[in-house]
Amino acid sequence: MNTKASTAKLPVHVGIIMDGNGRWAQERGMARSQGHLEGLKTARRIVAAASKAGIRYLSLFVFSTENWKRAKDEVDFIMGLVKQHLMRELDFYRQNRIRIRHTGDISGLSAEIARELQQAQRDTKDFDGMQVVLALNYGGRDEIVRAVRRLLDDHFHEAPPDKTQAASGNQCSMPCSITEDVIARHLDNPDIPYPDLIIRTAGEYRTSNFLPWQAAYAEYFISPALWPDWNETFLHEALDAYAGRERRFGAVHAP
Ligand code: IPE
Ligand code: IPE
Ligand code: MG
Repeated sequence: MNTKASTAKLPVHVGIIMDGNGRWAQERGMARSQGHLEGLKTARRIVAAASKAGIRYLSLFVFSTENWKRAKDEVDFIMGLVKQHLMRELDFYRQNRIRIRHTGDISGLSAEIARELQQAQRDTKDFDGMQVVLALNYGGRDEIVRAVRRLLDDHFHEAPPDKTQAASGNQCSMPCSITEDVIARHLDNPDIPYPDLIIRTAGEYRTSNFLPWQAAYAEYFISPALWPDWNETFLHEALDAYAGRERRFGAVHAP
């Protein structure tokens, strides 16, 4: 483990696509739910490890807008785990000064989970340690659609169309004000810096709709290990790989 490299160039924001719970369970002849149970324990370990490593923001892909396609039993089990976790872990957040945030469509979650999620955010809002963003009922395309809807709502409430422009046939008032910055300001958590590093476990080479806008220039690290087997050593392996990357953002660096 090259800890020197990871402290030299540490990502501010890390996102994790926590994948492989089902395979982990199936390999052991267990129900998929056992994999999710182990996966939750891993999430707790990795939150503590990332906080210790000095990461400021950790986005965890918990449940996607597409995961509703799974069997009802599995969905219910995952939602039950999420609820229990939110209800019971305040001490853990407090000890680690962790602030809980959410990204995703809260209106698509059960009233109970939505309430627990809001309560956890309120209870931890003054903690100044790492911020953990739970991507729950999250889809990147869905987030962009919701952002555009909010933008339209804001526009029509704050700035009714200029009558003179409308009369002269000028269509410019709305479309001309749309920039990347305007869209970004209407995303779920506009104050959070974009992720520097996205980790995906279980060896799949795809983003599965995780933070497409924010991760446009993130570095990716694919780990073959299944999420329930993940630990601090794997996290440092990913941080070391990140420290060795050259980020150009489209520019050409002088030799
Ligand atoms: C990730 O593990 C957890 C969720 C998507 C909720 P999976 O359940 O996708 O595990 P695999 O991919 O089937 O192994
Ligand atoms: C992505 O994993 C979603 C989460 C980790 C919550 P999936 O297992 O749902 O992704 P696909 O279906 O393999 O793309
Ligand atoms: Mg999967």
